[in-house]
Formats: sequence, C-alpha cells, structure tokens
Amino acid sequence: LFAQGAEFLKGVVAMDGLPPADRIETCFAGRSNVGKSSLINALTGRKGLARASNTPGRTQEINYFTLTDDHYLVDLPGYGFANAPVAVVEKWQKLLKSYLSGRPTLRRAFVLVDHRHGVKPVDDQIMTLLDRSAVPFQVVMTKADKVKAAEREKILDQVRAALQTHPAAFPELVVTSSEKGDGIATLRAIINSLV
Ligand code: GTP
Ligand code: MG
Repeated sequence: LFAQGAEFLKGVVAMDGLPPADRIETCFAGRSNVGKSSLINALTGRKGLARASNTPGRTQEINYFTLTDDHYLVDLPGYGFANAPVAVVEKWQKLLKSYLSGRPTLRRAFVLVDHRHGVKPVDDQIMTLLDRSAVPFQVVMTKADKVKAAEREKILDQVRAALQTHPAAFPELVVTSSEKGDGIATLRAIINSLV
C-alpha cells in the first residue's frame, strides 16, 4: 500500500466534514506530542506530509491522508496537555471522542504511547472509550530511541499490565522510533494486512 505514495486529503473540524465512509481507515491517537504526525511521515516516507512540531497541540484537526483507493490514514489531535486556549482544546477533544466512537469504517486505532512514560491515566480513558465503542486498538510505543535498552522492558511490562483491563486491545505492542526507523516496516505490514 505504501508504495503508491500517500497524499493529504483534508483537515476536518466537525463530524459532518468527514469524507464519505467509502473505504477502511486507520487512525493514530495519543497524547499531545507523543509523535503521531511524525509516525505518519515515517510510515509514508514523506517528511512534511503530516505537520509535526515540538509544540504540544500542533495537530488541531482530524487530518485525512489517502493511502490508496481502499484506505485512509487519519492523524488525530492529541489529548492531554496542549499549548492552546482551553475552549479550543475542548472543542477538538469532543471531536476526537465523537470520531473514535462513531466512525463505522475505522478498522484499527493505533494508540501511541511514549516509551519513556508508559500508559498514563488519559491513555487509559481513551482505551476505555475504544473498548465501549468496540474499536480494536493496538499500542505503538514511540520515541524508543530516547530510552535505554535496559529500561525498555520495564516500561513494556507496565503497558502490558495496563492492557489487561481493555478487551479491545491487541496484546502485541509495536516498538517504534520515527527518528531511527525502528518498527516502521512492522507497522506498515500490519496496516497492509488490514482489509
Ligand atoms: P500533536 O499533534 O501536538 O498532538 O503532536 P504529535 O503527537 O503529532 O507529535 P509530533 O509528531 O508533532 O512530534 C512531537 C515531537 O516529538 C517533535 O519534536 C518530533 O520531532 C519528536 N519525535 C517524534 N517521534 C520521535 C521519535 O521517534 N524519536 C525522537 N527522538 N523524537 C521524536
Ligand atoms: Mg500531530
């Protein structure tokens, strides 16, 4: 799928702005600054495709990318702290929740977790929303390059324990670094396998 080259389709600010549900889609959710946009760029091999930045709250719309005629990739606004006015943040958090619980063609949600921090209470809340909405989700660890090898397993155990309480979670974790390229091929293969 990735050989064909992904393209930006549109940024969506309200549920009625979503494109027609005419193909499956995969979305990337996670706390502000966890690396959602960077991961989409790494997966598609296009550095500037999704806008990434060091300012939490960079992505403020639901951004659609056409992967193929059969598949959209969806970059979501982050949750948790964001460097933006409260009213604005509340608006996009509401949109995020509506999207995650109400998109029939959403095949899998990737919930990104910073490998330095593990699963936080806000991540747990999003996972509960996905459970209730019956959206299968898989955890992708990000920024693995920032964690010493010796520390990695400890955090992974914490994440695995947190997933035990979530029936919609896939047990397999994908460990990635958008910076170094770790895990990117694995994640592409997972997305390729979705139909
Ligand atoms: P919001 O849109 O604000 O929610 O953020 P986001 O989750 O889209 O994060 P984004 O991709 O914008 O990345 C945030 C910061 O983390 C940027 O400065 C990235 O360069 C950095 N970053 C992302 N992935 C990695 C990674 O794998 N390794 C390292 N070292 N830095 C990363
Ligand atoms: Mg972003």
